[in-house]
Amino acid sequence: MRDANVLKVAIVDPDDVSRASMKNLLLGVDSLWLEADCSRYEFFIDVLGQATPDIAIISLDADHVKGLSLIQQVSRQLPTCSVLAVSGSQEGSLILQAMRNGAREFLNLPLQLEDVLAAMDRVRSSPSGMTSASTETRIRSSRVIAVAGVEGGVGCTSLAVNLGCMLARHEGNSVTIMDLDLSLGDADVWLDLVPDYTVQDVADNIHRIDYSLLKRSLTQHECGAYLLPRPVQMNDRSSVNGETLKRVISLLKSTFSHLILDLSKNYGELEMAALQASDTILLLSQLDLPGLRNVVRLNQYFEDYEGINDKVRVILNRMGIEDSQISLSKAKETIGREIFCQLPNDYQAMVESRNNGVPLMEQAPKARITKAIEAVAEVFNEDSGEVAAPKKQKKGLFSFLSNG
Ligand SMILES: Nc1ncnc2c1ncn2[C@@H]1O[C@H](COP(=O)(O)OP(=O)(O)OP(=O)(O)O)[C@@H](O)[C@H]1O
Ligand SMILES: [Mg+2]
Repeated sequence: MRDANVLKVAIVDPDDVSRASMKNLLLGVDSLWLEADCSRYEFFIDVLGQATPDIAIISLDADHVKGLSLIQQVSRQLPTCSVLAVSGSQEGSLILQAMRNGAREFLNLPLQLEDVLAAMDRVRSSPSGMTSASTETRIRSSRVIAVAGVEGGVGCTSLAVNLGCMLARHEGNSVTIMDLDLSLGDADVWLDLVPDYTVQDVADNIHRIDYSLLKRSLTQHECGAYLLPRPVQMNDRSSVNGETLKRVISLLKSTFSHLILDLSKNYGELEMAALQASDTILLLSQLDLPGLRNVVRLNQYFEDYEGINDKVRVILNRMGIEDSQISLSKAKETIGREIFCQLPNDYQAMVESRNNGVPLMEQAPKARITKAIEAVAEVFNEDSGEVAAPKKQKKGLFSFLSNG
């Protein structure tokens, strides 16, 4: 059965070979549903009447005149259906005519997955492409959540992995955890997985990757979450740069509801690209002077990058590990922003979970740390774009979560 969050597509292309290759590409895209394909321009309008797709893909190459007039007919008769014109020709006059006749997008054949996804994104985000009421309710955008830290060992991987697993168990969610600590990442250990492919393989093949290859590159944990781990060898990292990373993220975004990025603490090109591509940045610190000082330092550094500071939510980890001499109000004053939430120190639950390669929700379902991370997961489970602080838990038992 079709997922309620996908766009319905119909294609027309009299050329059997190029139609088959387009179908093949579209069939692999989870966010699209190929409702109908048609080999005759003459029949397409009837096909659209029955299939009522959100997007009609019209190939022009078999007959420019017929194709262009079909674009006009579809855009006049079916205003809720966005037309994508496709052609092997890059002739300016053809592109211009297609757009004048009402095409929303013009893509070159052979279709590239990235181009299709980008065009679909534009159709989705542009109001005129969303005139169908049914389409509006169906779309659910993907959330990219970066987990970053102010110092080594502050708990990024613990949070990223457990957050991912908790989100994955909710029906309707599909989650990938990306280990972007390319040198020493250990997300695979936390999940006890031995993956075949890594971030490196996806980045190296970004120009020719299709969805089946992408899916095969990911290893699924039994809780449902997928993992894209760090490269096997340390000297394999070189070809993953900020640009390729952004492309990998946008590919994954189009098929998963949640992407969790476990970042290293380098704050170099790769990390900054990941932060730019993220919707929310969970910044972990402990309630101590070096940690808070680094929150301030990072805030200053992020000023140079538009939009990043607005996405940052500070999480204080390992609360209660020692009697902190710093009060929460002092911490807030020092960092000049709210504390999003606090996670309790629970070394035993964490270490057992990691050593057994079993997520907290199975290893220690009742532990305070599990409940606290579940509250964070709940925030990202909501369909609204808001990232409000986790709901306060019952007083006493989970009082560490209060935002005081
Ligand atoms: N809330 C917590 N309570 C107790 N121990 C914790 C907590 N969070 C993390 N830890 C422990 O801290 C250690 C470091 O955690 P983790 O590997 O998640 O940090 P990291 O920021 O990813 O480290 P790195 O900088 O090496 O990537 C682990 O042993 C983990 O079990
Ligand atoms: Mg880590």
